[in-house]
Amino acid sequence: MSDIALFNQTEDELGRVKECFNQQWKIYQKVLNNNYMGHREIYSHLHELLVNYFQKPFTMLELGCGDASLTSQALLNTHIASYKGIDLSIPALEIAKQNITIVQCNATFTQGDFCELVAELAQSQQNTFDAIFMSFALHHLHLEQKDRFIGQLKPLLTSDGVFILIDIVRQKEEDRETYIKRCLEGVQKHWSLLTSEEYLMVENHITSSDFPETQSTFQEISQKHGFTRIDCLYHDPLNITQLLCFHN
Ligand SMILES: C[S@@+](CC[C@H](N)C(=O)[O-])C[C@H]1O[C@@H](n2cnc3c(N)ncnc32)[C@H](O)[C@@H]1O
Repeated sequence: MSDIALFNQTEDELGRVKECFNQQWKIYQKVLNNNYMGHREIYSHLHELLVNYFQKPFTMLELGCGDASLTSQALLNTHIASYKGIDLSIPALEIAKQNITIVQCNATFTQGDFCELVAELAQSQQNTFDAIFMSFALHHLHLEQKDRFIGQLKPLLTSDGVFILIDIVRQKEEDRETYIKRCLEGVQKHWSLLTSEEYLMVENHITSSDFPETQSTFQEISQKHGFTRIDCLYHDPLNITQLLCFHN
């Protein structure tokens, strides 16, 4: 544990994070194992991007890395030189440390809130990364927070670096409420191995914590902060998730 850096957390906060992790971990594993969120397809596109875009050694910062299980797979047979993972959850980082060992690179992990840590990194002006990667974690922030956050990522990228975002995205004509309704209909229909208790937890999580934006909102944010363009490299058949690549 000692080689996971801790950032500004009290014992109470750490306890709450651990409890929450244990409850949600089992359900998330079920979701991953049954590919309910389409991780398999989207991470195979991520792998392709990493292989094709980075033809020489590159560095990656992952925000909200969780246990880094799928990232480790996506990094296999790429030119990754160093990887830094950030997450709130110590138990997840403990597993991430094991998972990343399949990849030949220098890996470090920091426990803490990525909003605070990114602000620190941006202020220190001492670190840049060829890739900043975030998967299913940005949508918890509100629009103004996302805007500020993405603005802070820009100076953390090398000149031809990319911010790679995998996340839920609303359709142009959808408001949040309509999106949540559509999403929950999909969960009810397709996530058939969830128990009713697990379904309620998922429903509660989605209803309280999911704040998806439209692709055009991401376009506007990226233009505002001086990214040259965004490419949508994949969207799932239900149009719930996208793989977006922001070019510096
Ligand atoms: C839905 S999981 C996604 C995990 C992994 N990236 C994936 O796609 O499978 C969201 C992860 O983001 C982390 N997370 C959420 N908010 C965070 C924050 N403010 N700072 C750091 N980590 C955060 C959670 O602990 C969790 O591991």
